[in-house]
Amino acid sequence: MSASRTSRGRTAIIVGAQWGDEGKGKIVDVLTRTFSVVARYAGGHNAGHTVIVNGKKFIMQLVPGGILRPECTSVIGNGVVLDPLAFLKEVASLRAAGVKVDGNLFVSNRAQVILPYHRMMELGAENAPGRVKIGTTSRGIGPTYEDKMGRRGLRVADLLDSKLLRTHIENACREKNMIAHALFNADPLDADKMFREYADAAEQIRPFVRDTALLLNRALAEGKSIVFEGAQGTMLDIDHGTYPFVTSSNSTSGGAATGTGVPPTSIDTVIGISKAYCTRVGSGPFPTELLDAQGEDLRKRGNEFGAVTGRPRRTGWLDLPELRYAGMINGISWLVVTKLDVLDHLTEIPVCVGYKVDGKETDEAPAQAYGYEKIECVYCKMPGWASPTQAIRTLEALPKAAREYLAFIEKETGARVGMISTGPDREQTILVPEFVSELGLKNC
Ligand code: GDP
Ligand code: IMO
Ligand code: MG
Repeated sequence: MSASRTSRGRTAIIVGAQWGDEGKGKIVDVLTRTFSVVARYAGGHNAGHTVIVNGKKFIMQLVPGGILRPECTSVIGNGVVLDPLAFLKEVASLRAAGVKVDGNLFVSNRAQVILPYHRMMELGAENAPGRVKIGTTSRGIGPTYEDKMGRRGLRVADLLDSKLLRTHIENACREKNMIAHALFNADPLDADKMFREYADAAEQIRPFVRDTALLLNRALAEGKSIVFEGAQGTMLDIDHGTYPFVTSSNSTSGGAATGTGVPPTSIDTVIGISKAYCTRVGSGPFPTELLDAQGEDLRKRGNEFGAVTGRPRRTGWLDLPELRYAGMINGISWLVVTKLDVLDHLTEIPVCVGYKVDGKETDEAPAQAYGYEKIECVYCKMPGWASPTQAIRTLEALPKAAREYLAFIEKETGARVGMISTGPDREQTILVPEFVSELGLKNC
């Protein structure tokens, strides 16, 4: 079934290089000018990917960004956890906005299903005394991945099987109600009501369901290009992030293969998305965090409030050791720097260039969250450009200090900057010619 390297379509992974919300949605949208398929591989409706087209704002949680171009195929891969009700709500609002979703949007029959007891368990755990509060999005993501790994989850194919669905919900509710009552004194959920609601949702989802691994590998063999749309970010990855303050899936590039069924040998390029500074939403380590007026200023200028939960995002300066780590873990060959415009007012920009622990420089990311408390960030100050960049469309037209800022990031991370975003709109994008030709983005 696998196609040879020469005949198959091109592939690129878009991965968050920080703590999520780097602007992945916007960049995926720019790439879909050329790429014909977009596939989500991890996470669920904890993600919020913003795309602005002609001033109209779309926030996608489950549906890949490709949906905004009718000629593009959008795939929700097996690595995603799917809340059927959230999916149908998103589909309905896309339809209401005149977006085509029939015949171009597909859901894996192997994706795991989020059910109400997953949210119940998460709520209980987050508020239980003695438990580490992660500051989750309360979408039931963690407990659903727990059930997947515990081999007791419900997959989309099972959701469509009414008899199996009833038995699964009855058994799971019995078990989860007992646990939630014993641990968190939670009120029991009604299995019968749940079955009726989800059986109805299943019928509405049925037309979208496919063996998406087969669909994607066939598309590749036919020469179609695929962009893998990462959710979350490197430092939220279950293995490589700031554990336990992470999400419950592999958001790093490795997840693209397992989360879609497209083999690692069919991946051509990994594109890391990084803001020109840093943000994080939820609890956990954040070495360059600014807790002062400057942090508040970045939050205001960058409009740093969660797309899904509306929570204020924590803000800080660019963290190059973190970005180098993201480069190593993901195999990033191209970087996209977003929100450069948010730094437009500054005459001087601090950048973290190294970590020190006990006075000694280190390149190692701590394996324990408390290890981050020992980190002392080493900063250098880059000259700011103190002029607007939002209307600029070429690298050469950027102020000299902005080009130097980008060149410094390249030098320090070893990855090339292929795209710069200077505003939320599709058009507020600078494409570097080498990136355009390597990704076949010509004729955009
Ligand atoms: P994602 O989760 O990585 O897709 O990112 P989000 O959509 O959650 O957050 C990024 C936010 O920044 C959104 O509100 C975007 O509209 C906005 N955005 C993206 N690129 C830029 C940019 O270059 N400049 C500015 N000012 N905003 C941007
Ligand atoms: P996108 O794709 C930013 C964070 C949550 C919390 C932690 C665990 O828009 O970049 P979870 O609900 O996943 O169990 O929460 O992960 N988180 C995100 N932060 N962007 C996201 O997605 C996130 N998805 C989860 O805030 O700290
Ligand atoms: Mg987001």
